[in-house]
Amino acid sequence: MKVLVIGQGGREHVLVWKLAQSPKVEKVYCAPGNAGTALDAENVAIADTDIPGLLEFARSNEIDLTVVGPEAPLVAGLSDAFREAGLKVFGPSQAAAQLEGSKEFSKQIMRAAKVPTADYRVFTHADEALEYIDLREQEAVVVKADGLAAGKGVFVCSTKDEAKDAVKTIMVDHKFKEAGAKVVIEDCLEGIETSILAIVDGKTIIPLETSQDHKRAHDGDTGPNTGGMGAYSPAPYVDDDMMDTIIEKILIPTVHTMKTNDTDFSGVLYAGLMLTSQGPKVLEFNVRFGDPEAQPVLMRLKSDLFEILMAAAEGRLDQIDDLEWDERAAICVVMAADGYPGSYPKGDAITGIDDANELENVKVFHAGTKLVDGKVLTNGGRVLGVTALADNLTAAKLQAYKAVKAIRWSGAWCRKDISDKARD
Ligand code: AMP
Ligand code: GLY
Repeated sequence: MKVLVIGQGGREHVLVWKLAQSPKVEKVYCAPGNAGTALDAENVAIADTDIPGLLEFARSNEIDLTVVGPEAPLVAGLSDAFREAGLKVFGPSQAAAQLEGSKEFSKQIMRAAKVPTADYRVFTHADEALEYIDLREQEAVVVKADGLAAGKGVFVCSTKDEAKDAVKTIMVDHKFKEAGAKVVIEDCLEGIETSILAIVDGKTIIPLETSQDHKRAHDGDTGPNTGGMGAYSPAPYVDDDMMDTIIEKILIPTVHTMKTNDTDFSGVLYAGLMLTSQGPKVLEFNVRFGDPEAQPVLMRLKSDLFEILMAAAEGRLDQIDDLEWDERAAICVVMAADGYPGSYPKGDAITGIDDANELENVKVFHAGTKLVDGKVLTNGGRVLGVTALADNLTAAKLQAYKAVKAIRWSGAWCRKDISDKARD
């Protein structure tokens, strides 16, 4: 079988790596890919939002399954275009991708499904949003741009002034352009954050092993929000009882309501959760694998990922055997470029990746990298996801950071405390 993975980050590298391990897969392409996917697959120079270009490539190369990594092509309708052309694709339709593409849509689904989440209001005018903030009893509040804002459209505010500034940034300064035409203002939840990912085919739900991301830039969860500075799996806070609650109160009603809403969900349902004193509540839904959560989770998956994703694309997940998992723990440490999540340089030469990969049970997943004349250069903010598997989290952490030490470029940095939250 021939597989096309769409995207160019760390998530796409782990997808490529895992799919290539399937005995059923003879060839993996990645569009546009990075330096890492160039080694584990064949890169194709087509942008991930160039739907006609990707469709043409998939047709002429007789691709059997296309796996969409990021949200933007899904929200732009890539899956619909592929399905209409009779091609198999893993990823939700444009209508179902609104679960991530519009925070208002996502909240409406949660309300209809009675899924626990923060109380919220939606505003289309800045003055009404500002007035509402003034009238609220609590100071703490979360202000979110409705549309896709590359993970930067959420402001967790501890004072009313901060919240008003956030509304102005979104609706008056138009920082996120049309993604900020509406704002969702919601109660601030407290608790431990965790991500649950499930593979869904419209009706059957297969939850994956648990993981926890580290969204803030610096140690101890300080500094600005990022796309994720590291993740580990399994997350100790989610025991079997908690997982049952999440499945029963969140995943099943969401998938059911998406069906009755005529926006059947097929693909990865990613629930970002806050484990509050009143139980798990949804912070957000995403419609794709988490990055960097996918790296440690898929490193622990023993089952054939191709078979699972193909079954989801064909609507026959009910025929898939129970997933097999490596009982060991995995940790992914993101190495970032100087300045990230603000502006950062590109084009710095990276050394030591091969040495790191030679360490036992280590795999360096590439994110913002590109291959130029045989050299790996930095090409993004999150550059590498150094991932290690070991008997427990403590050993996995030691191994991942040993690998990090082998890798160098000018200005490289990472958090030093990935997975410490599991031991708090
Ligand atoms: P989102 O993109 O909606 O996941 O939001 C990004 C981050 O903002 C989340 O990972 C949380 O850390 C935080 N966040 C979002 N919504 C809330 C909320 N209602 N209460 C507290 N924190 C939140
Ligand atoms: N790591 C967070 C995300 O993928 O959205």
